[in-house]
Amino acid sequence: MLTVRAPATSANLGSGFDVFGVALETPADVVRVERAPETTISVTGTGSQYIPEDPEKNTVGAVADALDAPARISIDKGVRPSSGLGSSAASAAAAALALNELYDRGLSREELVPIAAEGEALVSGEAHADNVAPSLLGGFTVATADGVTQVDASIPLVVCLPETTVSTRDARDVVPERAALSDVVDTVGSAATLTVGMTRDDPVLVGRGMEDEIVTPERAALIEGYEAVRESALEAGATGVTVSGAGPGVLAVCRRSSRRAVASAMIDAFDAAGVDSRAYQTAVGDGARLYRD
Ligand code: HSE
Repeated sequence: MLTVRAPATSANLGSGFDVFGVALETPADVVRVERAPETTISVTGTGSQYIPEDPEKNTVGAVADALDAPARISIDKGVRPSSGLGSSAASAAAAALALNELYDRGLSREELVPIAAEGEALVSGEAHADNVAPSLLGGFTVATADGVTQVDASIPLVVCLPETTVSTRDARDVVPERAALSDVVDTVGSAATLTVGMTRDDPVLVGRGMEDEIVTPERAALIEGYEAVRESALEAGATGVTVSGAGPGVLAVCRRSSRRAVASAMIDAFDAAGVDSRAYQTAVGDGARLYRD
């Protein structure tokens, strides 16, 4: 039997829609695999009641198919589904790493990225790699059609999850098909700033580089209380705030010294809007880890 812990991730980071992603230190999914004549899946943990165990409908089943690696697979969910933290991607990344090892497929983590992304296509309708790449590789990743670039980073973060859900499909429906050139120019500037910030472990540059006027405003409107949460986080010391992935999770970047205050401010602001929430005080972390039982 093999066990893999694969981290939650936050994709987009505002200016890098469908391209940027970071691995989070917490939370994570834990996936166990054993060889079997055909694939079966069992799911426990947070939000497990919303996840299909039918291999035809589960991201992990798609990964097992792609690797031609039938197995008895158990998934312990630490990453809440439809939260904006790459829940399905964490399971898919864990399964890809575990099954690659279980069947000696010999693929590198980079080569497993498109395979894990196939699982994502089941959930969102499109195979994008901005969540699976950081879950497999760790750190900050830039996923494009030409491949993935990765850099290790150490940036304190808070992710605050309201007790509401936004489906990835709904969140993709509000993304505009076209953008004004001035907004594109601003967003390219932000994305470049953020990338430099990641290479320097600089939360001020990363926070400033999350600004985006194209996708984030449309998605923020789907999250009750978002503007108040953003304002409160900035007042408490966050250096930048944006929607985590497709939402409804909200991501804040900060210095380590203000992380606790930022987390409290975000929870209080959601509470004032009548929305229960929980916050993870976390940081950019490592990729999936494999354990032999
Ligand atoms: N880049 C994706 C999106 C991440 O924002 O729709 C969620 O799967």
